Amino acid sequence: MDAAEKAAIPGSGGARPGPAGPGPAAPPADRAAARPATAAGAVPGDGGRRWDHAVVTGGAGFVGSHLCTALLAEGTAVTCVDDFSTGTPGNIAHLRDHPGFTLLRADVSAPFAGHVPGPVDLVLHFASPASPADYLRLPLHTLDTGSLGTRNALALAREREARFVLASTSEVYGDPLQHPQNERYWGNVNPVGPRSVYDEAKRFSEALTTAEAAARGTDAGIVRLFNTYGPRMRGHDGRAVPTFIRQALAGEPLTVTGDGRQTRSLAYVDDTVRGILAMAASDLLGPVNLGNPDEITMLDLAHQLIDLTGSPSTVRFIERPTDDPAVRCPDITLARGKLQWAPLVDAREGLARTIEWYRQRARPGAEAA
Ligand SMILES: NC(=O)c1ccc[n+]([C@@H]2O[C@H](COP(=O)([O-])OP(=O)(O)OC[C@H]3O[C@@H](n4cnc5c(N)ncnc54)[C@H](O)[C@@H]3O)[C@@H](O)[C@H]2O)c1
Repeated sequence: MDAAEKAAIPGSGGARPGPAGPGPAAPPADRAAARPATAAGAVPGDGGRRWDHAVVTGGAGFVGSHLCTALLAEGTAVTCVDDFSTGTPGNIAHLRDHPGFTLLRADVSAPFAGHVPGPVDLVLHFASPASPADYLRLPLHTLDTGSLGTRNALALAREREARFVLASTSEVYGDPLQHPQNERYWGNVNPVGPRSVYDEAKRFSEALTTAEAAARGTDAGIVRLFNTYGPRMRGHDGRAVPTFIRQALAGEPLTVTGDGRQTRSLAYVDDTVRGILAMAASDLLGPVNLGNPDEITMLDLAHQLIDLTGSPSTVRFIERPTDDPAVRCPDITLARGKLQWAPLVDAREGLARTIEWYRQRARPGAEAA
């Protein structure tokens, strides 16, 4: 990461790893001893696999914070490793006083395993900028996180003999020439376009994870997440759902890029988290697509959100970003067959829950959660 990018990350004065922020300081090993013997994590639909201590990199981000919450709720101690480059302390504020939760403020691009005490049986590697606005602002950080960060997270899993799950993305398919996308499709990615810092970082992460499993026998799995939405997405992170909801609630025009006919497939975060934990509980290497095959155009999404919020907003068309994919829809045959997983929350329900979360946060005195 260069100096300009570093300056763009709050509090990143050469960040050295160390417990910080809202997390209590005691190591998870001590906490595990304090928990009832029967409390080790059993997540519904996880095939009965138990975890005592999970490390979630990027745990203060949108998806990561939901993963931390789900694991803690089932009795797994969680160490969240995050540098707050795109996540926020508010995302994990509700976990601050949980006896099983520890925050390690660290950039995973530097080795951090030595700062994670005790046995670890699950590493969920979710650290990475994910919204285009973030990875375009932090291009070198994104590449470092996908390369060095993945190497360091894999090293932790290998040393502690933990199961490792990489958060990859549908962006590895680029602007796809095959529709819907199944895991055998190799993608259509511009290696030097503006989005390449994210797409190629994830493709490299997948290659590294696959090689690590083959060469060293590390118990690793790869999930390719398609667009996921829900509470705790930042209203200004540039992704369509939070942008449209923010604009609709403010009565502003919803800014649809291009002619709005490009499609995305939107999964509610609870479904995505359930799929990730099912993958963690399996011994599959993957990659496995996790997403909702219900495809929607961006223009229809904008109208649906205007309708659901009861907003007087209209739609305004703006320029479409370079290399923006025209279509995106997962083939989830593999996840259905191997993980017995499929999304359960339909778009109306998921969007309504998300709108409600933004409304509550807008109320005076509301706590971030
Ligand atoms: N949300 C989606 O729709 C989606 C889709 C596909 C893949 N993913 C993947 O899921 C993961 C989480 O995405 P998200 O939407 O929650 O994004 P997010 O930006 O909300 O969360 C990412 C988290 O990683 C942290 N982070 C980034 N670089 C780091 C580093 N070098 N060291 C330590 N922490 C670092 C950030 O501070 C943040 O808390 C990412 O790996 C992303 O590529 C998400």
